Amino acid sequence: MKHSILLPYRAPQNVAILANQRFDAVIADRELTIDEVIALAHEKQARGMVVVPKQKITKEVLEKLPESVKVIATSSVGFDHLDVAAAKARGVYLTNTPDVLTECTADIAMLLLLNACRRGREYMEIMDSGWRKSYSQSEMLGVKVSGKTLGIYGMGRIGQAVADRARGFGMKIVYCNRRRLPPELEKGATYFSDLHEMLPHCQILSLNAPGTAETKHIINDETLALLPNNAVFINVARGTLVDEAALIRALKSGKLFAAGLDVFENEPAYNLELKEFHNVFLTPHMGSATQETRDAMGYRALENIEQALNGQRPQDSLW
Ligand code: DGY
Repeated sequence: MKHSILLPYRAPQNVAILANQRFDAVIADRELTIDEVIALAHEKQARGMVVVPKQKITKEVLEKLPESVKVIATSSVGFDHLDVAAAKARGVYLTNTPDVLTECTADIAMLLLLNACRRGREYMEIMDSGWRKSYSQSEMLGVKVSGKTLGIYGMGRIGQAVADRARGFGMKIVYCNRRRLPPELEKGATYFSDLHEMLPHCQILSLNAPGTAETKHIINDETLALLPNNAVFINVARGTLVDEAALIRALKSGKLFAAGLDVFENEPAYNLELKEFHNVFLTPHMGSATQETRDAMGYRALENIEQALNGQRPQDSLW
């Protein structure tokens, strides 16, 4: 008999096909609220479920879910929406989807970096309004990327993939991470154990660390002030790493040349003040949003569920 599972969000078609082949799956046509997920889990006596980051699995939610639920797989690498300790105490596996979204998320970091440095948004606005005026050689100038120092805060898989891409653009890499990487992964990048010490070197700063209590508001008035003047700021990690009011102050004061942001403190209700800055390039949390990657994330989540329900420890177990 197939195991009963839930996909309480609009899954990519290929993921839905696989889920139906392997499981007795209920697949929603929209993102269900957590109360709807709980009700459906009781109705179907679900044994597992795939969730997306807006569907927060707190201690209270875990307590309300039926005993039948043995595994919850988030289709994301980030798991700041999951209470790992509470799930462990209850014996429910929680899993995420590392690796498969590394490349695409690093691509979005480069998309933001290039657009922020080279005034992508303003150039688009000029073309959209029907370009007619020629610019002199001293107007509408951006920041040259080659030769610049890129600081990476969080040198995990995605940070390393950003570094690889930036090396291809002739950038020098400095990084701050809890642990120094071995030489074969460091590839000549300069390690800083202290963010404060790294920041004055970062002509461009990219955040690639997870959203945790430790990283909350790590970018604030004090740390922004340590950046060189005219620095460029990129965030594809989590909005919680940034005190957005402080970021707005740094943009207003001209401390930053530009910013590129894919993630926000309050998503999707992001601070609309940000869109008033023509030097801020914004994308709506789309780091992993390619067909191939979203399929791979869904497949990986289903593999984790299958492993757990077959009595194995899932490959991406978070505890
Ligand atoms: C992730 O996988 O964590 C992405 O940011 C999508 O939420």
